[in-house]
Amino acid sequence: MSAAISGSAVYPVELQRQVDAYLEGIRFSSESATARLEEAMRHSLLAGGKRIRPVLALATSEALGRAPEDVLPFAAAIEMIHTYSLIHDDLPAMDDDALRRGKPTCHVVYGEDVAILAGDGLFAEALRLALTEQQGPPMGIIAAARALTAAAGVDGMVGGQYLDVTAQGASDAAGLRRLHELKTGRLIAASVECVVLLCGASGPATIGLGRFAAELGVVFQIVDDILDVTGDDDELGKPSGTDERHGRRTYVSEYGLERARELARESHAEARAALTGAGGSTERLEQIADYILTRQT
Ligand code: IPE
Ligand code: IPE
Ligand code: MG
Ligand code: MG
Ligand code: MG
Repeated sequence: MSAAISGSAVYPVELQRQVDAYLEGIRFSSESATARLEEAMRHSLLAGGKRIRPVLALATSEALGRAPEDVLPFAAAIEMIHTYSLIHDDLPAMDDDALRRGKPTCHVVYGEDVAILAGDGLFAEALRLALTEQQGPPMGIIAAARALTAAAGVDGMVGGQYLDVTAQGASDAAGLRRLHELKTGRLIAASVECVVLLCGASGPATIGLGRFAAELGVVFQIVDDILDVTGDDDELGKPSGTDERHGRRTYVSEYGLERARELARESHAEARAALTGAGGSTERLEQIADYILTRQT
């Protein structure tokens, strides 16, 4: 059952295809000795994720009146950083999961040592790609790179992952929301924020987009928590039940399924409301928000 009351959303698959084709064309290794490291990186990167973050980036470009493909290098960099976070998240020392994107996880196929390096490699290569291939005013590229690295860092994804695996952080409702904002929300928000910076956009529209993206990141992780309980491994392409197995604090453990669904809907409504003030052609961003709430994978 979906988190939403009703309706199923249309995902912009043409943007997803553009991202997939671009990622497919990226090569990392220039010598045969590191070919297997590249293979490990591509194993996880090209395993067929939803590409929510880069698709959001492309849709934001469109909302700002630009061609989606203008921001492909940066969008791909965000997906590479996300993929690195998944490789490390699945390691035995973290969530210890053997299935990801419908395939055996990186460490299962290539070993833990290579999987750690594949994650490290994707992070570094992401920045190299963004700083080498992204076109546009240099100040915009620097500002976007700063926003992306901040979102991936201690005040972002890595800090959130730390709170998650060590059960640190405030044990109240605000603490749980903070965990979700950091571990998942910041990178999703960066997918919109970086494009705003790359395009040099300013004014009230960008404030609306920023609020939209930040709230959307929280919706995304609440739904992830719900799917960890209700989802099917084959459909998810990753094992369900991991959160409970590790005694993790989630919206479901905290509030129960029904209340978690309500909170996801409330958060989704807030994200949608923020978009209303943004102006521009935001239809695709609306579609993505609806998809994030109703998704089954
Ligand atoms: C899973 O992300 C990890 C979280 C941050 C919840 P996605 O659900 O976007 O995974 P892929 O990229 O589609 O595989
Ligand atoms: C991980 O959250 C978020 C990341 C930064 C990778 P989860 O551990 O819940 O993600 P899944 O459920 O394994 O995709
Ligand atoms: Mg985890
Ligand atoms: Mg996990
Ligand atoms: Mg999860």
